[in-house]
Amino acid sequence: MTESTPAPYVGPTRVLSGIQPSGALHLGNYLGALIKFVALQDQRPYLFVADLHAITVWQDPAKLAEQTREIAAAYVAAGLDPAKASIFPQSAVRAHAELGWIFNCVARLGWLDRMTQFKEKSGKHKERSSVGLYTYPVLQAADILVYKATHVPVGEDQKQHLELTRDVAAKFNHDFAQPGFFPLPEPLIQGPGARVMSLRDGTSKMSKSDPSDYSRINLTDDADAIAQKIRKAKTDPEPLPDNLEALKARPEADNLVGIFAALSGETKEAVLARFSGQGFGAFKPALVEVAVETLAPVGERMRRLMQDPAEIDRILADGAQQASEVAEPVLAEVRKIVGFWAPRGAGLA
Ligand code: AMP
Ligand code: TRP
Repeated sequence: MTESTPAPYVGPTRVLSGIQPSGALHLGNYLGALIKFVALQDQRPYLFVADLHAITVWQDPAKLAEQTREIAAAYVAAGLDPAKASIFPQSAVRAHAELGWIFNCVARLGWLDRMTQFKEKSGKHKERSSVGLYTYPVLQAADILVYKATHVPVGEDQKQHLELTRDVAAKFNHDFAQPGFFPLPEPLIQGPGARVMSLRDGTSKMSKSDPSDYSRINLTDDADAIAQKIRKAKTDPEPLPDNLEALKARPEADNLVGIFAALSGETKEAVLARFSGQGFGAFKPALVEVAVETLAPVGERMRRLMQDPAEIDRILADGAQQASEVAEPVLAEVRKIVGFWAPRGAGLA
């Protein structure tokens, strides 16, 4: 091997992702993240509730634990089996925060200066944002690499954070002369649900923070609310085209076709083949049908699970235990590589 070719990572495939407990989950989270987690669950993924990330913006301490349970309930309601997936609160596995600090000393300011999510979230008053919001992507790198995760299913908005994770991994491996120590994880983003847009504006992302509740479908919306939001969704007067190219200039139409495709597990081409030439008067009722059929039972299961917080707590505690068993040894290796003090003779078996 030449010096310029870093050693490849040799290790097991490991899937990991997280969702912040910072507000109600919506259709974008479901299609961009949750259903992908379910599709991957035979790989025994590590799925956490990103409470350390949530507090980068203010969270009411009286509500945070309950919001954490809610995300855990959503994982299970979406179809994840706690016997296959380890579901846990990020803050319960201390190794995330410790590796996060070490990575703060690996990542460069210039890398973080390029992060678009910080720019969006900090808005006009960057100087009033928490320092945590700025180093958010560095903690995300630690979340992933403390498990030596190789595959990370996320929505498209996380692409840049995954690139930073790869940069951190490569720089750590290089600086400490540990080729192949950390993998360079792959984001799993593809599919029509990777970027779900607002129902009120096809050019902005569906998000928890949009002031209009009509912009999004929440996972806890009942069938009536889902139907009403789709009926009121912004569209244009044209019938649906027969090719993807013609959709590109029509963001709202493109979004609804993408949502239909992601919910029904088809491609956008297949949806167009079925509906081309028809107007939204025909398309929207069909979309309501598939949306209600898919989402209403998830909301229902979520509500039911939330009535049994002890069961959720058991899932979270078991998950944290399983996650720690993977993360702690990796952190121990990192501490040694960095050269932190340990009692003399420790670790010599
Ligand atoms: P967050 O709620 O920001 O913690 O996001 C949790 C997951 O949902 C991440 O994988 C995001 O990429 C994904 N996600 C959030 N909003 C959307 C959206 N509008 N479309 C697709 N995926 C999304
Ligand atoms: N930043 C992610 C989001 O907002 C949540 C997250 C935190 C995450 N750590 C992660 C996702 C690690 C994947 C892997 O959606």
